[in-house]
Amino acid sequence: MAIIKVQKGTKDILPSEMPVWHFMEEKANEVFSKYGAKEIRTPIFEATELFARGVGDTTDIVNKEMYTFEKSERSLTLRPENTAGVVRAFIENGMHRLSAPVKLWYKGPMFRYERPQAGRQRQFHQVGVEVFGIKQPSADAEVILMAVNYLKALGLNDLSVELNSLGCPECRENFKTKLKAVIKQYLNELCPDCQSRYEKNPLRLLDCKVEECKAIYAKPEIQEVIQSDFICEDCANHFNELKSYLNTLGIKYEINKLLVRGLDYYNRTVFEIKSNNLGSQNAVCGGGRYDSLVKNLGGEDIPAIGFAMGMERLASLIGNKEEIKTKAFVVSNNMEEALKLTEELRQKGYSCEFDLTNKKFVKQLEKASKVAKYALILGEDELKAGEVTVKNLDTSEQKTVKREEIELI
Ligand code: HAM
Repeated sequence: MAIIKVQKGTKDILPSEMPVWHFMEEKANEVFSKYGAKEIRTPIFEATELFARGVGDTTDIVNKEMYTFEKSERSLTLRPENTAGVVRAFIENGMHRLSAPVKLWYKGPMFRYERPQAGRQRQFHQVGVEVFGIKQPSADAEVILMAVNYLKALGLNDLSVELNSLGCPECRENFKTKLKAVIKQYLNELCPDCQSRYEKNPLRLLDCKVEECKAIYAKPEIQEVIQSDFICEDCANHFNELKSYLNTLGIKYEINKLLVRGLDYYNRTVFEIKSNNLGSQNAVCGGGRYDSLVKNLGGEDIPAIGFAMGMERLASLIGNKEEIKTKAFVVSNNMEEALKLTEELRQKGYSCEFDLTNKKFVKQLEKASKVAKYALILGEDELKAGEVTVKNLDTSEQKTVKREEIELI
């Protein structure tokens, strides 16, 4: 019979990889809790409209990459990201009534129908943070700090923070008009995606990866517009204050005027954290401010900012972590006693196993040395005396102790 394989762009996370995943998850809880963030878990599928309205219907994510299906005449979508879902939950659960800031963190699988390659999957995992209720740039600084400190806690160093301000809808409109005007004469030479972006979402022209388009955008008259300080005074003040906080905190960053992000909800601050040790998919973290999203999804007028990180990319940077061995393996040919002793050990809080097939004593000992730190030997003599021989499988030291007095370190 033909075997059924895992779907393209998806992966099993095997037991040998779990120590790294547990490490990432435990550190997330530990680090984000220090900043007062609470974990939230939202459903993996939502109404398609949430993403169309939330992420934006001119984005690649909504146009090309969503896993959408119908059930009972409802259009549902596997979440391609979690900001929209967390905002929905924030509104639906009246969290605006909690005292601001409301800080939420999450982890879990996301789904995007993308062309799979190293670092890019169709089902991948994100860990992220969303902070609601603060319009001041202090929140931007704290959110970036949370991201940087989480990455530090994972032991990751060779990273760079890129920062940009997209301004507010008003100043951005001016910029879009200027950008379109200067690009207009090259419109026919742009790739089909850029031709449609030109009308629908001109900011996204800036992060096109097609070489011909990049060459056009590198022309001096276009660069002049891109590099110009188009943002209004309020947005500029916000950005300058943020930069000053980051300087105070000693967080190094680079300004990247081409950083526009692939989701429509952003305004003012956007940022990405990139690794110098990954290939072309080198962004480990992306985030920014989205002050209109809560309102656009039917909530109050509440500002917010957050980020998400790709956990597969983090895992590949962290490398392997040793699998934790079972603490003890009971070696005995008396099945009933072995079963009893194993359970006694578990009740005491140790992980413990025994041979369910009652193999020969030597075979059991071999198995113990592969999977456990200690062998607990229960032979005829030990059984009679109510004792157990505890063998440290790393050092081969052994001693015989009373059954109730077993202590393993
Ligand atoms: P994003 O930039 O689309 O932002 O994704 C964040 C991170 O998820 C990326 O930097 C990358 O590490 C990882 N990622 C994205 N797509 C894939 C993929 N196909 N395979 C593997 N990893 C991937 C967002 O999702 C926003 N919701 C972030 C945010 C939160 N903004 C504000 N709050």
